[in-house]
Amino acid sequence: MKSEKRKVMKKVILAYSGGLDTTCALHWLKEKKFSVICFIADLGQDVDFSQIEARAKSCGAAKIYVVDLKDEFAKHYILPALKANAIYEGKYLLSTALGRPLIARYMAEIAHKERAKAVAHGCTGKGNDQVRFEVALKTLDPDLEIIAPVREWEFKSRDEEIKYAKRFNLPIEVTRERPYSIDRNIWGVSIEAGILEDLDVEPPENIYQITKSSAVHSSFGRYIEIGFVGGIPRKINGKSYKLVDLIKELNNVGGLYGVGRADSVENRLVGIKSREIYEAPAATILHIAHKELESLVLDRETHHFKEMVSLKYSELVYYGLWFSPLRGALDKFIDYTQAKLSGKVKMRLSKGNCIVTGRQSPYSRYDKKMSTYGKGDIFNQEWAKGFIELWAMPYRHQK
Ligand code: ARG
Repeated sequence: MKSEKRKVMKKVILAYSGGLDTTCALHWLKEKKFSVICFIADLGQDVDFSQIEARAKSCGAAKIYVVDLKDEFAKHYILPALKANAIYEGKYLLSTALGRPLIARYMAEIAHKERAKAVAHGCTGKGNDQVRFEVALKTLDPDLEIIAPVREWEFKSRDEEIKYAKRFNLPIEVTRERPYSIDRNIWGVSIEAGILEDLDVEPPENIYQITKSSAVHSSFGRYIEIGFVGGIPRKINGKSYKLVDLIKELNNVGGLYGVGRADSVENRLVGIKSREIYEAPAATILHIAHKELESLVLDRETHHFKEMVSLKYSELVYYGLWFSPLRGALDKFIDYTQAKLSGKVKMRLSKGNCIVTGRQSPYSRYDKKMSTYGKGDIFNQEWAKGFIELWAMPYRHQK
């Protein structure tokens, strides 16, 4: 018996970037008879959003949301990670990894608003980002159906995907000559694929999006001073900035001096090792400055304990466990340590480096009278003798 009811198309919220994968995904979902609502998240990726919106429209999006998330990203995602000194495997400042839980949160929110039962993303089945999106989504709303077209569809290579895009006249910019996969937001740029998969090949200069080659600079460079209040960066050279603007400014200045490039082979969550090139001028400058201030202000035991916390924190972010109880608990500890993290750090940016040249804080624990080798020394060296006796006691007469 034929149903009289008009068939309502199933709605899906697609996190849309305008790139090859999500553009093909949009078309593919439509072929699967979904009504596709595109959500374009503005995390400061410096693209023309009206152009991306037009692209989504031309590919048949039923509705489009463009949401400026920069402030929220800076305050509630970047800042906690900065306070935590969260750096994955010593190199990656987690720009992409920090953006994913925020995008996922809005995917769920828009799904609720639109009464959609499904969400979709354009991540491959080999990467970390699928895990980050989906773990966040399952934490926020386990009832949402998650569709990952790139993991499911029939194309076996990027070439086949490009062919599909061409067949349906989908507007894409990827060519076989520039096959890089680039993810960008205000906290940094992640670049992979193409020639970068050959680990011994130096990245070609033209892959870089925001940093200038250090070869073009005078060797002296320039000084920059960052002012912090309670662990939050507030000033550049004495001038106050809103967090998002401060990050943008440091990306500009740091980028000019080639600061914040990293070439890494990292351990992905799914067991693969991958080559990734990063650019993160602002993040690099801020991490260096923040850590320097901690050296000055934190007592030794808190400082060393916090270094262990940093390691764990970076794993939580990288592994997609942003909305986990442990992250919340660590944030409480970290915030406690930041109460007196105020002061200034001066650095010199030059030829790709960012070197600290000075620091000061009203809460500094540095006591020159104790540490000086010059006049005014008040340290009682006689105490050292007894201290060493006790310190060494457990190891005497060791067999
Ligand atoms: N390897 C980085 C991460 O797992 C970046 C991933 C996204 N990279 C990209 N080029 N699309 O967070």
